[in-house]
Amino acid sequence: MKQQRTTYCGLINDNHVNKEICLVGWVQRRRDHGGLIFVDLRDREGIMQVVFNSDFDKKAHETAHSLRSEYVIFVCGKVVRREESLINKDIATGEYELQATSLTILNKAKGLPFSLEDSDAVDEELRLTYRYLDLRRPKMQQNLKLRSDVMFATREFFKEHGFWDIETPVLTKNTPEGAREFLVPSRMHEHNFYALPQSPQMYKQLLMASGCDKYLQIARCFRDEDLRADRQPEFTQIDVEMSFVDEETVMSTAEKYLKQLFKKVADIDVTIPFERLTYDQAFVDYGSDKPDLRFDLKIQDFSSLFQNTELKFLKTVIEKGGKVGGLHVTQKQFTRSELEGWVNKSMKMGAKGLLWIRFNDDGKPESPVSKFLSEDFLQYVQATCPQAKAGDTLFLIAGQYKDAWTLLGRLRLAIAHELGIIPQDQMRFCWVTEFPLFDYDPETKQWASVTHPFTQPQEGWEDKKTEDVRSRSYDIVLNGYELGGGSIRIHDIELQKQMFTILGLNQDKQQEKFGCLLEALELGCPPHGGFAMGLDRLIMLLTQSKSIRDVIAFPKTQRGHDAMMQAPSEVHEQDLAIFGLKFLPKRQK
Ligand code: AMO
Repeated sequence: MKQQRTTYCGLINDNHVNKEICLVGWVQRRRDHGGLIFVDLRDREGIMQVVFNSDFDKKAHETAHSLRSEYVIFVCGKVVRREESLINKDIATGEYELQATSLTILNKAKGLPFSLEDSDAVDEELRLTYRYLDLRRPKMQQNLKLRSDVMFATREFFKEHGFWDIETPVLTKNTPEGAREFLVPSRMHEHNFYALPQSPQMYKQLLMASGCDKYLQIARCFRDEDLRADRQPEFTQIDVEMSFVDEETVMSTAEKYLKQLFKKVADIDVTIPFERLTYDQAFVDYGSDKPDLRFDLKIQDFSSLFQNTELKFLKTVIEKGGKVGGLHVTQKQFTRSELEGWVNKSMKMGAKGLLWIRFNDDGKPESPVSKFLSEDFLQYVQATCPQAKAGDTLFLIAGQYKDAWTLLGRLRLAIAHELGIIPQDQMRFCWVTEFPLFDYDPETKQWASVTHPFTQPQEGWEDKKTEDVRSRSYDIVLNGYELGGGSIRIHDIELQKQMFTILGLNQDKQQEKFGCLLEALELGCPPHGGFAMGLDRLIMLLTQSKSIRDVIAFPKTQRGHDAMMQAPSEVHEQDLAIFGLKFLPKRQK
C-alpha cells in the first residue's frame, strides 16, 4: 500500500474533526440508500461510520455500491461531527463520521459461514472451524487483548521483583502431575519418546539448584486428560519458583502480583492478604477444596440431632460412623414441588437421598418423614440453628463424611446458582492450605500424591497415619475455581526418598524416574518453593467467560480436537516406520 492509515477506526476523537484521514478495516455493514451509502468500518479497536456520497467523490461512491460484508478496504476522507440527532451512543466514535473521498478495495470476501454479529448463538464447532472469523468479533478481540495485557503486566511485575524469565524444554521426560502425558516419538533414538511437560515442575526446581533464585515462566503445559469447561489439553501457566523462602513469602508474592495485575488490567481493587482456610476447614464448611466465598451458606453438622432417631436409614448411617450434614437455606420459601425437584437433582448428583425439613408459618417443621421426628425435634433444631425461622428449609444428606460433604458442597453451589445469590461482580480470593499429602487409590492399592511428590509434609508427619499427613501446600481459589497452587518443596534427599517409598517406588524406579533431581538434592540444593497459576482460567474469570475456550486464540474442542487444522490427524504406516513404529489394530470402543 502506497498510503498508510492515519489511525484505527475505534480511536477517532475530537482531534480528528475536520481533518483528512485514511482508515483501513472490514466492512461490518453497508446501508445503501442510493445517493448515500453508509458503511460501518471495523478494525480491532472499534467501528467508524463512513459515508459515501457522489458530492464528496463520484468514483468512491460508485465503488461503494459493490461493497459487501467483510470486504477489506482502504478509505480516505474528512472526519465531521454528526448532527445531534444522529449520534450513536452505542459506539465510542458515535459522534463522528468519515465523508469518503477515495476508496480502494483491498480484498473481497465471499459469504461468511456464519454472521459475526450473532455468533454467540452459533454452534461452537463451527466457530472453532472458522476461528479466524470468530476472532474478528469485538468480544473475542477484547479477550485476546486482555490476555496480552495480562502477559505483559505479569512479566513487568516479576521483573520488578527480581525474577528471571527462563524457558524450559517442551520435549522432555515425564513429570508426575497425575494426568496422562502426550508422547512424541524420536527419529534419532528409535523406540524412544519424549513426553510433553504437564508442567515445568522438575526443571524449575533444578533452576533453584542452579542458583537462579527467582524464576518466572509463562509456560505451555500439556495434559491428556478429560476436558471440562475449565480445562484444555494444552494450556498456559504463570509458573514461579523462589529459593530460601517459606509459605509466607511465596503467598505474599502471589497476592501482591494479583493485586497489581487486577488493578492494572481491569481496574479492580483486590484486598490482600487473602482469607486463609486449611483444607480441613474448607471441607468442613463448604464440602470443597475450592470454596466459592461470594455467598455465605455453610454446611452444618446435624448428626447430633439424629442420635436417637427412629429413621432407619439415618440410624444405619450413624451407626456405621457416618454423619448427617445439612444446609440451612433462608433466602427462599420453597414449594413442595420445588423441594421434590431438589431431591431429584441431588440424586442426579449421586446422593442416595435428600431429606428436607421446612419450617412452616405456624413454626412447625414439615417433612416427608415428619411422623418419625420426635415432638421436641423442633427445639433441637432451633438449638442447633438458632436463626431458623418460618419459611426456612434444611436440606440434609447422610453418609460417610467425605461423600456426604462433597455432595452437600455441590448442592450448596447448585442452590446458590438457582436462587441467584452469588454476586457476579465480586472477585473473592482465598487460600486453601495444608492439603492431605497422600491419597489412597483402592484400584492400584497404592498411595498417590495429592499434588506432586516434591511437596514437603508438615512438621511431625512421621507420627501421623499416612492419610492424616498434611502438606506445606497452598491453592489460590477465586470465586470457586482453583486458579493456582504450589508448595514448599523437599530439598532433603532422605525425605524425598522416604516420600517416593511411600508412593510405592523402589530404589530402581526412583533412580529411573527422578535420578537427576535426587542427585541435585545432594549437590547443594537450596530450600525452595513456588506456585503456578492457570493463565487461561485467570482470563476466563477476569472476562466472566463461560469457558476457557473463549480466552484462548486457537483452543481444542471439548473432544480435544483442533477443528480448524483438523488435528490430531492420521499418519501413514510409512511415516511411522522412520520412528521404528507400527500400528496395532484399533481398540474396540
Ligand atoms: P497444578 O497441576 O495444580 O500445579 O496446576 C496449576 C494450575 O494450572 C491450571 N491447570 C489447567 N488449566 C487449564 N487446563 C488444564 N488442563 C489445567 N490443569 C491445570 C489450574 C491449576 O491451578 N507444578 C504445579 C505447580 C507448583 O507446585 O508450583 C502444578 O502444575 O489453574
